[in-house]
Amino acid sequence: MDDAHIEGDLTRVLYSAEDVARRVTEIAAEIDEAYRGKDLLLIGVLNGAVMVMADLSRAMKIHCEMDWMAISSYGSGTQSSGVVRILKDLNTDISGRHVLVVEDIIDTGLTLSYLISNLRSREPASLEIMTMFRKPEAQKNMVKVKYVGFDIPNEFVVGYGLDYAGHYRNLTSVGTLSPHVYS
Ligand code: XMP
Ligand code: MG
Repeated sequence: MDDAHIEGDLTRVLYSAEDVARRVTEIAAEIDEAYRGKDLLLIGVLNGAVMVMADLSRAMKIHCEMDWMAISSYGSGTQSSGVVRILKDLNTDISGRHVLVVEDIIDTGLTLSYLISNLRSREPASLEIMTMFRKPEAQKNMVKVKYVGFDIPNEFVVGYGLDYAGHYRNLTSVGTLSPHVYS
């Protein structure tokens, strides 16, 4: 990894910081419209959704609360482990609440379908999903996503909360990693 310039490790920038900000603002306006006058609880999925949660919530003009869950899906590499485990549960009782799950990325959708059925059993008034990025595999899955930032190709991407082995989350743009980083 190049310690000086993390953006130098990208082979291709898919979305600049400006592209991301513009799309987040658009979605925030849709959420404002949909949840006006409702008691909205945003649930961020740690760690990847930290950036989108921070930007999306501040682009919104309506009241909301925030809570966080941490679940394990990937190990430190780029392959899904298939194992889903709750590492940190909510602090909030969501029964009767209007819940919007805020995700960084949906790949196979395995992680999310587990999370959604878990949350549904707690009987929220409504349960919807916002994800900043979605890969083609996710379409096969039965999880209905209400708000999608960008549909992206089936490539491993980093930046804007997305990591490779814990790095690159603080990159403001989103792109694909140069192969030299993996080796
Ligand atoms: P599934 O396949 O269950 O996976 O939808 C969702 C989780 O996998 C991680 N993921 C990625 N992380 N770049 C990343 O940094 C990617 O391209 C990528 N694809 C999947 C991520 O943690 C997500 O929540
Ligand atoms: Mg990750």
